[in-house]
Amino acid sequence: MKKMKNWKIRRQDLENVRKHFKNMRNQDKERKYCFTFSLEDPDFCNEESHIYFVGKNEKNILGYAICYLTQPGTNIGAISKIFESGDSEDLVDFGGKVVSREILKNYDGYENYLCKGQVCYIGLMEVFLHRRGIGSNLLNYVKSTPNLELIDLRANGYDEAIFFRKNGFIDSGIDAETGSQIVMVWNNPKYK
Ligand SMILES: CC(C)(COP(=O)(O)OP(=O)(O)OC[C@H]1O[C@@H](n2cnc3c(N)ncnc32)[C@H](O)[C@@H]1OP(=O)(O)O)[C@@H](O)C(=O)NCCC(=O)NCCS
Repeated sequence: MKKMKNWKIRRQDLENVRKHFKNMRNQDKERKYCFTFSLEDPDFCNEESHIYFVGKNEKNILGYAICYLTQPGTNIGAISKIFESGDSEDLVDFGGKVVSREILKNYDGYENYLCKGQVCYIGLMEVFLHRRGIGSNLLNYVKSTPNLELIDLRANGYDEAIFFRKNGFIDSGIDAETGSQIVMVWNNPKYK
């Protein structure tokens, strides 16, 4: 799809978030897509989050990604937000072992973290027209965040995992929600 633009807003810029939220709701009535964004839910939007958008313009939004950015740390397990969407035993590896913050650095993708750049957890990403390159566009925009070394997320199922693999993510070897969400990682090739 041609003529897409990207922009992002900080969660704390509440007025702007509300404006975008209203625009998206208006589109929802017309297009009847699956709409899951909730401004009220504190798990989706807290002070650390940034909301990345793709669309024709600010009134015609085609998708969004809610991202949590953390500053570089010496231990990926300590700074990754991957643990924060579930309970303490939510993450289990393919061998059935519960994954803790202490051992996260042993898994594929995470083991490459050099402690140099920021880490981005994509809490939720959704586009409203599928298979037109909009999700890839949005993901490329997230990847272009300055000083970003690693992205992690929970892919919602088999098809979503195919999408993320196409976009350079690898399977970490960890599952969440009893196997229905694959934890996937993107390593920025600029960090080597
Ligand atoms: C996952 C999602 C973001 C993909 O966005 P999209 O705009 O449809 O993806 P793209 O058009 O950029 O796809 C790029 C490539 O990924 C692969 N792909 C994308 N969706 C796919 C699917 N459902 N099944 C298999 N492959 C898929 C294809 O190879 C595709 O290229 P192609 O269409 O030329 O074959 C979108 O389906 C979505 O919003 N899903 C619901 C919310 C969700 O599950 N989000 C992810 C977890 S947070």
